[in-house]
Amino acid sequence: METQILATNTPRRLSAAVKAAAGVLADGQTVALPTETVYGLAADALRPDAVLQIFEAKERPFFDPLIVHLPSRDWLDRVTQIPNGSRAMVEALVTKFWPGPLTLVLPRQLIVPDIVTAGLDTVAVRMSAHPVFRAVVEHFGHPLAAPSANRFGRISPTTAEHVRSELDERIPLIVDGGPTEHGVESTIVKVEAGELRLLRAGPITPEDLGGVFQELCEARDYRPTEEEFARFYEGLGVNFSAMLRGEDSVNVEAPGQLASHYAPRTPLRLIAPGVAVLIYDQENQVPARLGSLAFQAPSTAAEFACEEILSPTGDLREAAATLFAKMRRLDEAGLDMIIAEQVPERGLGIAIMDRLRKASAQHV
Ligand code: TXA
Ligand code: MG
Repeated sequence: METQILATNTPRRLSAAVKAAAGVLADGQTVALPTETVYGLAADALRPDAVLQIFEAKERPFFDPLIVHLPSRDWLDRVTQIPNGSRAMVEALVTKFWPGPLTLVLPRQLIVPDIVTAGLDTVAVRMSAHPVFRAVVEHFGHPLAAPSANRFGRISPTTAEHVRSELDERIPLIVDGGPTEHGVESTIVKVEAGELRLLRAGPITPEDLGGVFQELCEARDYRPTEEEFARFYEGLGVNFSAMLRGEDSVNVEAPGQLASHYAPRTPLRLIAPGVAVLIYDQENQVPARLGSLAFQAPSTAAEFACEEILSPTGDLREAAATLFAKMRRLDEAGLDMIIAEQVPERGLGIAIMDRLRKASAQHV
């Protein structure tokens, strides 16, 4: 199958690409589309035969459920069953963060096929803010199942070229919307009995979610106790008392997520800044060819064949946006090992550290 890439950089091209994408989707096939986080591989979420093709192209195991992207907010009640106790929290989250990089896991309606949810009684839903994605899903009119557009276990794509290198000749169409804004996948939270549990760290941070909790309380003139605050942040994987002391204190629990994910082919080691490394190639008795993936400036004492800096000014948003592209570049440089330095584990740094840990998981 030949893979076509369509540009969207003029109004004419955009409207042609949107029509072409909606046509391919209506045909029960897959299309790679930009979202504000990473590129997704989309198919009609309500058609099991179409969704099957996502699994085939990605070589994704069927036990890993997909996120359903809604055309509009009123689809929420058609695909999920929001328990009464969670309604206020869900409404507040959706009002604040949709369209945007927040995915909610909620009890599902039977309209959602089993292949999408891997047979679970919950479904993950979000509404993308990307203008190209929105145009396609609105034109198509049905929810789209869309995981990241990479082969299973590999680094998520943040450009159309990345998608091509992952899925060339496996899918009919890639719509090019330029590099994605956030660069890491959406934040996933599970809403249970009005409580939130963070399943995957992402662009919407625990602090952002905490803001919604506070607003909900204020709107009801309710003053939460310190224990209630603590319980809320615990659900988000944040140690509340350490947070009050200003310490890094995150422990994200991520069911449905494998430890080794987002992995480059080159072994990646995650180290504290300032550590000296010398890695010897045992076979050839020469120092190994190392690449550096540093936050602001490499602080590791070592000879590097290649260096990538995530954000010279120390901006975690910029670091997240460029993380996967830089990881990919190092992966293609023929290195023996990538030495990644830890970033501060706050705000978006939580999501970055999560991805770096997963990238290093096969290699520790
Ligand atoms: O930013 C994103 O979320 C991107 C763009 C394309 O929207 N999508 C994405 O999809 O990252 P994917 O399939 O690569 O990751 C979805 C994650 C998986 O780890 C899956 O296990 C989890 O969401 N998930 C999906 N449904 C779930 C459910 N019902 N319960 C728990 N986890 C779920
Ligand atoms: Mg993925």
